[in-house]
Amino acid sequence: MTAKTGNNGFGSRMPGFYRLRRKERLRRLAGSCGMSEQEVAALEAPSPLPFEVADHMVENVIGVLGFPLGVALNFLINGRDHLIPMAIEEPSVIAAASHAARVIREAGGFSADADAPLMIGQVQLVHVPDPEAAVKRVCAASANLLAAANAVHPNMVRRGGGAQATEVRPLPHTPSGPMVVVHLLVDVGDAMGANTVNTMVEAIAPLIEEITGGEARLCIVSNLADRRLARSSARIQFRLLETKIYSGQQIAERMIEAWAFAAADPYRAATHNKGIMNGIDAVTMATGNDWRAIEAGAHAYAARNGRYEPLSRWRIEDDTLVGAIELPLAVATVGTNLDLNPRVRFSHRLLNLGSARELAAVMAAVGLGQNFAAMHALVTDGIQRGHMALHARGVAVAAGAPEPLVEHVIEGLIASGEVKLSKAREILRSVEITQ
Ligand code: MEV
Repeated sequence: MTAKTGNNGFGSRMPGFYRLRRKERLRRLAGSCGMSEQEVAALEAPSPLPFEVADHMVENVIGVLGFPLGVALNFLINGRDHLIPMAIEEPSVIAAASHAARVIREAGGFSADADAPLMIGQVQLVHVPDPEAAVKRVCAASANLLAAANAVHPNMVRRGGGAQATEVRPLPHTPSGPMVVVHLLVDVGDAMGANTVNTMVEAIAPLIEEITGGEARLCIVSNLADRRLARSSARIQFRLLETKIYSGQQIAERMIEAWAFAAADPYRAATHNKGIMNGIDAVTMATGNDWRAIEAGAHAYAARNGRYEPLSRWRIEDDTLVGAIELPLAVATVGTNLDLNPRVRFSHRLLNLGSARELAAVMAAVGLGQNFAAMHALVTDGIQRGHMALHARGVAVAAGAPEPLVEHVIEGLIASGEVKLSKAREILRSVEITQ
């Protein structure tokens, strides 16, 4: 498969990358995406974020918490190669994503797209004297409301975004009695949009009170960003799935059973979706986006039919396993948080995308790939085998193994079948005694 590469002509296939030392990994990345020495140096600075910057970001700051930042390889999305930055503490997620992406690139890669970046702002109205009439009056006043909302963000309108539509939803039966909710739909461009939307709904609330005769209470963005969905799909021929033990068809059928389990049982669906979010959250973190918003949106969307369901769907067509995913992804490629953190800037540089919409599409593909990897592992070797090998490294380091002994401790842990801190310490003690 020949892949179109990004603007800088980079590819995402880097066999043996995991075996390289950090300097060499950075050299390869810089070379393939045309990064400058200064850009790469941001990754080598001793602190991920200068304390002075952190101190201005939130309150009562006492330090900066570090997280591993890695890169997932092999992603071919819409015919273009992508290097995917992922910040995550859980071993095996990045390896699993890269492995899935490798299989799926052989199958032709991921397709992915995302909706225009429309966010929803809500105005809650209580004590509305005639809710039915209020709904009609708000609909009739839509143009005025949009003009008032756009007046507070003229630059956004000049860039082609801004408030686009209003909706009204009566809530006749809340625990506090009837309410009316007005939605403002705003094209937020490449921003996440919460601040813009919050300013707009606060600005139009007095006007809505006047129109409806009710009292405005909450004016706030909705994290169920279901007008800003991203989706991805992949078609994987059976021959690409086979292992030494199972045929491709057997694995595909088992994966369908695994998905069907999630479709029927919310206890399983929660874990199925957690696996998807392993990938999506890691990219959310690496790109400086709001992972609480992403999580809230994803799970609310998973429950949109009145029952908690898997975010992905899998089926078999002839000799092909077909997967698809859809979820809200309110992510940004611009914003203060992104500008302040040098490593976040590095991640965006690595991704080299033109818009927040493109980022959402890429993240949907990562989620689908992560889901593929988890299901494939679960129906073949089980999850613990690969997991434990990687977990052992963390345990060895946590037990205080010096660099030259790390591999020895990992081998000992895996051979013993006990990947525990106490076992790692025991292995280290035995080395000290024999030396
Ligand atoms: C672990 O972080 C994620 C999985 O549990 C996902 C799944 O079960 O599908 C492996």
